[in-house]
Amino acid sequence: MKRPGYDKDAKTRPRDIVRRHDLSVERADLNSIPVIDVAASVSGDAAGMHATAEAIRKACIDIGFFYVMKHGIATDVIEGAYKQAERFFDLPEETKLRYDINKIKRHRGYVPIGSLSADPKIMDLQEGFEIGLELPDDPDYLAGNPLYGPNVWPDELPEFRRDAYRYFKEILALGHRLFELFALGLGMPKDYFEPFITKPMAQLRLIHYPSTKSEEAMGIGPHTDYEPFTILWQNAAGLQVQNRRGQWIEAPPIPGTFVVNIGDMLQRWTNDLFVSTPHRVINTSGQRRYSLAMFLGTNHDCVVECLETCTSPDHPPNYPPTHAGLWTENMHTFAYAYRWDERGTLSDPELRDRIDDTRDS
Ligand code: OGA
Ligand code: NI
Repeated sequence: MKRPGYDKDAKTRPRDIVRRHDLSVERADLNSIPVIDVAASVSGDAAGMHATAEAIRKACIDIGFFYVMKHGIATDVIEGAYKQAERFFDLPEETKLRYDINKIKRHRGYVPIGSLSADPKIMDLQEGFEIGLELPDDPDYLAGNPLYGPNVWPDELPEFRRDAYRYFKEILALGHRLFELFALGLGMPKDYFEPFITKPMAQLRLIHYPSTKSEEAMGIGPHTDYEPFTILWQNAAGLQVQNRRGQWIEAPPIPGTFVVNIGDMLQRWTNDLFVSTPHRVINTSGQRRYSLAMFLGTNHDCVVECLETCTSPDHPPNYPPTHAGLWTENMHTFAYAYRWDERGTLSDPELRDRIDDTRDS
């Protein structure tokens, strides 16, 4: 059953999972996550990029998760952001609350423990800090779009802004390189996605998962990501990924790599060829767990429509066109996002009607 465009009940529903594998492709049943060398995308070597794109395509079909190595990001850029994340989450609660996202009312700042849950009945055991493109004078922001605008930076940490935003920019550049590889793997021109990511709703979320002894205490409950894809760095084990048999397999940190996973927008773009795979975090590692999760969003006004290489007379599009910005606003499980709706600032009602929520069909 299709729900009407903007779904008010979304806030009370778990971000549950669509897994329609109805294109006739072979999908391998994996017990571990492939590691892919993406050096060719840094050097621009054309033959190497095609081979890499093939490997990525296969991983996206089989499990929707892969590690990237030789990605071109220097260790000190990663260490710098990690250190600032540690320092920020170590600040006293009342200091962190100066940057509370619920006060800022746009997608920037501190997300306290208890603000987020993949399942409305259980709160996730994590706190976060949201960073996006630094766009203080952006016309969309000035017109009330809460996904753009300036960042907030903690005054208490003089190097936070420099180090966190340097990481943001470098990972965004890696994101552009990965978009090229996805395009090639999908039989599209290398720069196919480029016009959709000129002002991306890219979000870097610094996350702290306190350690817990309970397997029941989820750092983040089972969910899929809703942007095209995510690039994740982590200091400790705890991330688990559901394979095709429904088993949870570990995705521990591997030195020199990032984890990349497909989200709902790429699943839709590819007509279910690439899978947006459920994953969760349980931090029983015995230490504080930090992750740097970069969600590679598109431009707000991007309409995600089945790629021509992912459809045929036997495989018509599984989804109608999706307005990426409204989908993103709809999918936020943060309390502050619901308040946007109460304030009536969720953009144009006609556009809302174009959002299709097939998650529960
Ligand atoms: C997420 C997520 C995993 C992690 O924030 O969507 O899946 O390891 N994070 O932090
Ligand atoms: Ni996720």
